[in-house]
Amino acid sequence: MLKIGSLTLDNPVILAPMAGVSDQPFRRLVRRFGAGLAVSEMIASNAMVRAHWKTMRMSGTEGEAGPIAIQIAGGDPQTMAEAARMNADRGADIIDINMGCPAKKVVKGVAGAALMKDEILAGQIIAAVVRAVDVPVTVKMRLGWDEDSINAPQLARIAQDCGAAMVTVHGRTRGQFYRGEADWRAIGTVKRAVSIPVVGNGDVNSLADAKALLDQSGADGVMIGRGSYGRPWFPGQVATFLATGTAPPDPPLSQRRAILVEHVATMIERYGVKAGIPIARKHVAWYARGLVGAAQFRDRVMHAETPERLFSVINAYFDPLIERQAAA
Ligand SMILES: Cc1cc2nc3c(=O)[nH]c(=O)nc-3n(C[C@H](O)[C@H](O)[C@H](O)COP(=O)(O)O)c2cc1C
Repeated sequence: MLKIGSLTLDNPVILAPMAGVSDQPFRRLVRRFGAGLAVSEMIASNAMVRAHWKTMRMSGTEGEAGPIAIQIAGGDPQTMAEAARMNADRGADIIDINMGCPAKKVVKGVAGAALMKDEILAGQIIAAVVRAVDVPVTVKMRLGWDEDSINAPQLARIAQDCGAAMVTVHGRTRGQFYRGEADWRAIGTVKRAVSIPVVGNGDVNSLADAKALLDQSGADGVMIGRGSYGRPWFPGQVATFLATGTAPPDPPLSQRRAILVEHVATMIERYGVKAGIPIARKHVAWYARGLVGAAQFRDRVMHAETPERLFSVINAYFDPLIERQAAA
């Protein structure tokens, strides 16, 4: 049982916040397939406070099953507090603070992973956000800025002292970006440093990975990012596997196509055709990963300009595969 402050999740498997990926249509699907929680893509606190329309749409949560976790990013305690308040007012049940993003654009303004280098400011931000809202506040971090400055255990303690209800640790340093392998054992040093729940993250792409991360780190839960690309059912499978020792099989291709078609339709509904098609394309391509002819399919998907064309490319690709699977 994973408790985040006053909230108890159904299971300890969480979809990672991913800019451009963990939007509301994807979060809804992942939750429906059984993930315990799905964290929103990061929302820039300064844009939120200026009520930038695109940012407001990113943080929209209509129709999403609770608990709803919204991640905010920024380096100014007051602006972060204000953004947290706005999100809590708009229905967020959990506010997550981004202290792990390695992107230059983000760290330059002393936000994301750069906050790991400034523990005083990091503490001020966490304390200000905790003071600003009644809902639990969580913090997502990496192991440290680089291998010579591993301070996740210390920063987790600061987060705990400032009132955070949970921390998530991606087992890489900022210097690694996404290179190398996530160090699941190192997440254990954070787990041992605090009494609030610690969620481990990084490179969980299979059921066995999820179990190994938990075994090696002693973490209370697992967060899954890229492993859920094109398979919104994966976090739910992991949850069942961790609870029972067996997991439901991957959905058959006919069901996979139905999920994909629904996913595309909700993206177009949410963003409109012009903005929705480019966002939908990358998800569509991911659904074919590992299947025969995925590369050519991806090519056709990238050239589909209208919803009609996209749906027809999807059907032309999946129809014969589904027939073959049914015959086998
Ligand atoms: C496309 C992409 C976007 C991401 N955006 C965010 C973000 O907005 N906030 C954040 O805290 N982490 C972000 N991350 C990091 C992920 O949450 C996660 O920590 C990382 O991908 C490692 O987990 P994984 O190996 O399961 O993908 C992003 C990662 C990717 C690949």
